[in-house]
Amino acid sequence: MRYSALVKSVRIGLLGVGTVGRSVARALAERRDVLSRAVGAPLLLQRAAVRDLSRDRGIDAALLTADARSIVQADDVDLVIELIGGEEPARTLIAEALQHKKPVVTANKRVVAWHGPQLAQLAAQRGVELRFEAAVGGGIPLIAPLTDDLAANRVLELRAIINGTTNYVLGRMAAAGLSMADAVREAQDAGYAEADPTEDVGGYDATYKLAILASIAYEIKVRPDEIYREGIEGIEPVDFRYARELGYAIKLVAHTQRHTGRVEARVHPAMISLDHPLARVEGAENAVFVEGDLVGKVLLMGQGAGGRPTASAVVGDLIDLARSIRRGVQSRPSFSFDDRIGVVPIGEVKTRAYYRIRVDDRPGVLAAIGQVFAEEGVSISSFIQKDAWSHDTTAELVVTTHPSLDASLQNARARMERLEPVHAVSSFLRVF
Ligand SMILES: NC(=O)c1ccc[n+]([C@@H]2O[C@H](COP(=O)([O-])OP(=O)(O)OC[C@H]3O[C@@H](n4cnc5c(N)ncnc54)[C@H](OP(=O)(O)O)[C@@H]3O)[C@@H](O)[C@H]2O)c1
Repeated sequence: MRYSALVKSVRIGLLGVGTVGRSVARALAERRDVLSRAVGAPLLLQRAAVRDLSRDRGIDAALLTADARSIVQADDVDLVIELIGGEEPARTLIAEALQHKKPVVTANKRVVAWHGPQLAQLAAQRGVELRFEAAVGGGIPLIAPLTDDLAANRVLELRAIINGTTNYVLGRMAAAGLSMADAVREAQDAGYAEADPTEDVGGYDATYKLAILASIAYEIKVRPDEIYREGIEGIEPVDFRYARELGYAIKLVAHTQRHTGRVEARVHPAMISLDHPLARVEGAENAVFVEGDLVGKVLLMGQGAGGRPTASAVVGDLIDLARSIRRGVQSRPSFSFDDRIGVVPIGEVKTRAYYRIRVDDRPGVLAAIGQVFAEEGVSISSFIQKDAWSHDTTAELVVTTHPSLDASLQNARARMERLEPVHAVSSFLRVF
């Protein structure tokens, strides 16, 4: 490690003073003494970058610049915190900071999910560290437990609720019977959802986070586009009622599991047994359930977003890196990735499923549906007729299955939709 030891203070360059950046700047100011004791040297906010210089940021305006590049190149900056967000220019700025041998802390899930391994390699080449605890699960410690505290384990499985917006939306649909559109609007009013909620509702945000967690947990490179993804768009209020009757909650689940020579990685809405801890994660909270071969099951839970919780993770990384700078040592070894291990295609994954099917209410329909499942080699666990409507003589059936290949479950769905008495397979959910 090429840090100079015994520095008098650690000078920070902050890129972005928005929701998280402002909380970080405030923590640095308000906790100056505590942080200084924790590091063994004062942490100084030396420079900060924003786009709009005219707005008050609650910090000395003389520190501000609109030229973020000048910060990553500055001789009087020892460490860079990137809180701009988005892919560019954030990725380039992080890479330039590392090139200039400045350790970097970032909360940027997109950049870490898509470019983390390359940036980690660059950091290793330059003898500095890249930290990103805040990129997944806001304030919940997840990266450090996986890289440090659980390092003695082989991670067998990791199952998580890592998108607070969708958890809030699904929770409101379940509790108040709201439609998806109304629940999303309520989440926007409460500040939990963006004006354009696609990244959250479509499951993209969760795939970035799962890509990071799976890459760290298994020490392999998992790109977001290798993860099977489905959003929560198709779920209707009635599914929550049926799920509860069957003993399940509906959650957007990010799941990864180790198989021999390969890993499973998928993000989709799923039914999860009411007695599983993840079923009880409420509102915008996040939770990650990890199973290691030595430790057994561990649950990490808390606030997955928000300025203050996210600043907690950013400043935690900052303290650790500042200590490294002080001592002239690197606290964590560089990441290494096993390129021989890939992701299992979704069709080859074995899972259980729930179907809600609108059919003509007449004899022979159940037999026709049963035949499709039999021909696809899918064994039915329960077959229940729910509501029936006399005005159009249709009925709703709910079918749950035993574990089967996902490809067979999908084939059964497509084939049922082509059956003459089937109006629609209105809902298809995997079941944990
Ligand atoms: N908010 C959360 O709860 C949360 C949770 C976990 C992780 N994160 C991550 O934390 C990061 C920051 O999120 P945030 O919510 O704080 O974002 P934000 O409120 O939009 O703040 C972004 C900041 O970056 C500045 N900025 C943007 N482009 C810039 C550029 N080219 N040059 C200089 N400054 C630039 C903006 O300046 P202006 O103010 O002048 O526009 C603003 O100060 C993101 O990666 C996000 O994914 C956020």
